[in-house]
Amino acid sequence: MARLVYCNGAFVEEAEAKVSVFDRGFLFADAVYEVTAVIGGKLVDFAAHLARLRRSLTELDLASPADDDRLLALHREIVHRNALDLGHVYMQVTRGAADRDFVWPARDTPPTLVLFTQTRATLEPREAETGIRVALAPDLRWGRGDIKTVQLLYASMAKSQAKARGFDDVWMERDGFVTEGSSNNSYILSNDGTITTPSLGRSILPGITRQAVLRAASEAGIAVEERAFTVAEAQGAREAFITSAGAFVTPVVAIDGVPVADGRPGELSRRLRRIYLDEAIRSAI
Ligand code: PDD
Repeated sequence: MARLVYCNGAFVEEAEAKVSVFDRGFLFADAVYEVTAVIGGKLVDFAAHLARLRRSLTELDLASPADDDRLLALHREIVHRNALDLGHVYMQVTRGAADRDFVWPARDTPPTLVLFTQTRATLEPREAETGIRVALAPDLRWGRGDIKTVQLLYASMAKSQAKARGFDDVWMERDGFVTEGSSNNSYILSNDGTITTPSLGRSILPGITRQAVLRAASEAGIAVEERAFTVAEAQGAREAFITSAGAFVTPVVAIDGVPVADGRPGELSRRLRRIYLDEAIRSAI
């Protein structure tokens, strides 16, 4: 069965889904997106993804393509039409099509709305077991990493270059402090048992998985500190891990070639993954 994509008002086969060459998403990366995990055909943390989409739209003065009920209905319909059990829904909103001009077009320009699904083979991929090895790269992205835009070229380049060098992913650093991964948030477990992750601000994305994992950690009585940590601190930590809607909680076992502790996935990272997934499955809609 060909994948069905939602494109500006209709569900069509993926080869038929077309957007104008004048679309500002294409010309200026003038667009925002969300990726929502689907487990057992249900949407994980959906309300939080919608809330972040609203924030991204507001920050960029982008028009809303539909109200929350309609966006939920579209997510459910695309999952249903593609019989998606495990994977995710990608949703993108652009400022629409207008003749090329750096100045934003009139606000009544209809936004482009696209949704598609991607499947994943398993809830427990190899990396969840083995952990990942991250390279380091300077964080050369623009200064509004808190807005979930499709302007992902630097993250894509940094991850591709890390892969070509034999790493699994990359952690970016600014002024000696780790900001985040190419498409995930970064954490360490300090030797005193505290989970440390960079505080929210303009340099990192406020991850939805981050929010859920920090809540779960606090409920489990684990100390959490939101502050910047250095590369050296991370390399000397007891554990390290990442979170995202795709990775859930995935251990990091080496940073720039330096093993984290004994170079094996840490116990807490594995435990948090289980706690997170149990709650994600329980609360999915
Ligand atoms: N990326 N930081 C960045 C830069 C990201 O792109 C993402 C998500 C995250 C984690 O956010 P969340 O927990 O809400 O997934 C952090 C998505 C998954 C992507 O681009 O595919």
